[in-house]
Amino acid sequence: MSLSVQKWFCVLILFRFSHDVVAKTVRRNVLFIMADDLRPTLGCYGDPIVKSPNIDQLASKSNVFLNAYAQQAVCGPSRTSLLTSRRPDTTRLYDFNSYWRVHAGNYTTLPQYFKSKGYTTMSVGKVFHPGIASNHSDDYPYSWSVPPYHPPSFKYENMKVCKGSDGKLHANLLCSVNVSETPLGTLPDMESTEEAIRLLKSTRDSGKNFFLAVGFHKPHIPFRIPQEFLTLYPLEKMRLAPDPDVPKGLPSVAYNPWTDIRKREDVQALNISFPYGPIPKDFQLQIQQHYYASVSYMDSQVGRLLNTLDYLGLAEDTVVVFTSDHGWSLGEHGEWAKYSNFDVATRVPLMFYVAGMTAVRPWPEDETFPYMDVFGLTPHRFTQGGTVSNVNELVDLFPTVSVLAGLKPPLPCPDNSFHVELCTEGHDLAYTFNNDNSKKSEAIAFSQYPRPADTPQENSDLPDLKDIRIMGYSLRSWDYRFTVWAGFDPASFQVNLSDVHGGELYLLEEDPGQDHNLYNSSEHSLLLCKLGQQQTWAQTLKQHLLYLTAGTKSKGMA
Ligand SMILES: *[C@@H]1O[C@H](CO)[C@@H](O)[C@H](O)[C@H]1NC(C)=O
Ligand SMILES: *[C@@H]1O[C@H](CO)[C@@H](O)[C@H](O)[C@H]1NC(C)=O
Ligand SMILES: *[C@@H]1O[C@H](CO)[C@@H](O)[C@H](O)[C@H]1NC(C)=O
Ligand SMILES: *[C@@H]1O[C@H](CO)[C@@H](O)[C@H](O)[C@H]1NC(C)=O
Ligand SMILES: *[C@@H]1O[C@H](CO)[C@@H](O)[C@H](O)[C@H]1NC(C)=O
Ligand SMILES: *[C@@H]1O[C@H](CO)[C@@H](O)[C@H](O)[C@H]1NC(C)=O
Repeated sequence: MSLSVQKWFCVLILFRFSHDVVAKTVRRNVLFIMADDLRPTLGCYGDPIVKSPNIDQLASKSNVFLNAYAQQAVCGPSRTSLLTSRRPDTTRLYDFNSYWRVHAGNYTTLPQYFKSKGYTTMSVGKVFHPGIASNHSDDYPYSWSVPPYHPPSFKYENMKVCKGSDGKLHANLLCSVNVSETPLGTLPDMESTEEAIRLLKSTRDSGKNFFLAVGFHKPHIPFRIPQEFLTLYPLEKMRLAPDPDVPKGLPSVAYNPWTDIRKREDVQALNISFPYGPIPKDFQLQIQQHYYASVSYMDSQVGRLLNTLDYLGLAEDTVVVFTSDHGWSLGEHGEWAKYSNFDVATRVPLMFYVAGMTAVRPWPEDETFPYMDVFGLTPHRFTQGGTVSNVNELVDLFPTVSVLAGLKPPLPCPDNSFHVELCTEGHDLAYTFNNDNSKKSEAIAFSQYPRPADTPQENSDLPDLKDIRIMGYSLRSWDYRFTVWAGFDPASFQVNLSDVHGGELYLLEEDPGQDHNLYNSSEHSLLLCKLGQQQTWAQTLKQHLLYLTAGTKSKGMA
């Protein structure tokens, strides 16, 4: 009796042991797909108009995070933050003008971590923000095994290549083109897809694990896209934002004057007044149309890429991540583009596909990712996969992808982490998969946005570090968004909490669009009492800011 028990015990131990060994040696590849300026205008996020069948198909085999937020709603700071898993206050990148390794700390990036574990790491298109922010090299050779690829046709992106209503070529915002007539006869995201497909094919037989990052340029402006995608969105189907006016209670410091859009020739011709506009309604509808068409164009590239992954027999061994660097306002609050703390600018799509975990065969089709023709009659393919409503952040991506691929996640960062190369300010989300517990969790997403002044200026959208005077710290929980705009010293990176320039509080159950600001400085403490148990937000923000202040102080002394 005791013998057999012992025997069983041994068998169990052996089983567990071998199981662990297997679990440890299984390494999955990673295909990391990033869109540029994509808010969740996707079928799988409930958008009724958009046609995104390929991303919807990926979503239906993924775990989809419905409430994921970027840490700063502009490309460079957000990309550096998500790729290092550190917040902008730790990368010290709020503009495009510094390289974290020399300006903040020598932080290990997500691809660099995979490279150090023996992966072949490859970058196609816009992954790191180009220029100084990644040392003019996309952080090569630290992050990548081979020099990053950039599509040659991108050099025409901001040139006069868009046919205007006068028949001449302009540097327009609205820029649908006949691809065979464009310089080089192709477009950047098409070239990136082809290069990514080539890399997948050549890497498959190398026997090494790969981490392939593919950064698409769309739907970022200008909307330079193949003209046929516009036919998917007749203007009469487009709708203005439900809240197209600047809300009365919005502090002027919170408003972004969308200067990048104003600089395009077709918008300049409209003589729109600065800073509040508005853009004429018929032009607003055309922006909507072109944004949606850009999403469908990008979706079709994602479809080609995923179909190749599948065709090469890699879909079973590859984690697929799809996300974006931040969102984009489409006229909400009278605002356009990114550059703010509102949900429309900070919320991003985020999904993870892992064969055998988020998707278990069989499904009706033979293939995992058959190509979905956006022009076809195929209805949206999103069959509600696993979804998570809890609030999450892009800094969570690094530890989560690590765990899903079979690597240890980085340890949590200590309070002052400027000297720590590898650590995370996010959380591993893998444990929340298929576990959509109450959305009333305590989870909070932090975002922030800098401003040069209390009122909108030419540089309010993207002030240089030296010009930053105010930082808007924003908390998003499942039921409110709270933002405080406080004095900020760019020389010492100090926040002055006694110097409040504005506040915003939106209760999302009654006000999902964030149009009714309930913050009243003279009633600040009264408000706290009224909110009762929701007081935690104030404590959380205070903790975060104290942590920042402590962090910068000890850095200063070091
Ligand atoms: C930064 O980290 C990289 C990779 O670990 C290392 O090669 C390099 O020497 C480090 N640079 C500094 C200045 O510490
Ligand atoms: C940045 O790039 C330059 C030029 O390639 C190189 O000399 C320098 O070492 C790089 N900086 C870091 C921190 O690696
Ligand atoms: C696109 O341009 C090519 C080459 O000029 C032309 O043959 C073709 O008809 C054009 N297509 C459309 C839809 O205008
Ligand atoms: C914009 O202003 C210019 C110069 O003041 C004027 O010539 C043009 O007609 C105006 N356009 C519109 C659309 O109002
Ligand atoms: C913080 O702001 C308050 C109020 O404007 C001001 O009196 C104080 O001098 C500021 N503190 C610092 C360190 O700048
Ligand atoms: C803010 O609160 C004060 C004190 O209760 C009140 O007098 C004032 O009207 C409020 N302001 C707004 C804009 O609600």
